[in-house]
Amino acid sequence: MAKEKKIHPHEVGLDPGELPQHIAIIMDGNGRWARDRGRPRIFGHKAGIESVRDVVKACSQIDIKYLTLYTFSRENWRRPKAEVSALMRILRNLLRNEIKELDENDVRVMAIGRINDLPDFVQKELSRAVDKTRDNKGLTLILALSYGGRGEIADAASRAAKRVLDGRLAPEEINEDTFGQFLYAPDVPDPDLLIRTSGELRVSNFLLWQIAYSEIWVTDLLWPDFTRNELFKAIADFQKRERRFGGVE
Ligand code: IPE
Ligand code: IPE
Ligand code: MG
Repeated sequence: MAKEKKIHPHEVGLDPGELPQHIAIIMDGNGRWARDRGRPRIFGHKAGIESVRDVVKACSQIDIKYLTLYTFSRENWRRPKAEVSALMRILRNLLRNEIKELDENDVRVMAIGRINDLPDFVQKELSRAVDKTRDNKGLTLILALSYGGRGEIADAASRAAKRVLDGRLAPEEINEDTFGQFLYAPDVPDPDLLIRTSGELRVSNFLLWQIAYSEIWVTDLLWPDFTRNELFKAIADFQKRERRFGGVE
């Protein structure tokens, strides 16, 4: 993606006033996509890169503020070693190859998860990307890596406990409004729209704290078949919904 032209939301049938501020995506189905073609799972992961590129570009072009991609879960470490290493290499290459254009398009890259679990060669490329794009003001792209929602909440509880021990926080000050400051990305608003591909009706330990009131869109498309058209469909559907947050109309 060289420097991309912006797209007015109207051009793709969307209301510019009602865009979700934050979209989170569980990118699932790479393995099945490859299996359907009689190919190894890694072939599907490689094919999924095109979807990542298209979706990131589209979000940036219509001025979505935050996009979180569930890229590798803590549970994904349980996969065969060869698949895990291939995913790590794909991730490193993706960061390496895309960073220049992401930067040119004012995209800020962030990561959430237990980043220290990642191999050094990924951590290195990741911190380079984060540092290079730190001051960018366009789309914030958040990569969830070695990420688990329960782990994030537990890590946050541990941080809050330390602050109490330091005498800088009273236990009574911990509540649902203040707890968010201990999460991995305290300044990022909760996702408005959560998308999952491949038809699975579960959240698989993704952003458990943050999705309390997210609108959910599940598509049967496998991740390598997911394109901006499906993204725009999901956003259009989101724009028709009435969010009540427990209140009444
Ligand atoms: C999602 O696709 C990518 C990652 C979890 C890294 P999968 O690899 O889970 O593909 P399926 O669900 O087995 O088809
Ligand atoms: C969720 O997909 C994790 C990512 C997309 C990175 P999984 O394929 O790991 O989830 P399950 O096993 O179907 O719940
Ligand atoms: Mg899967």
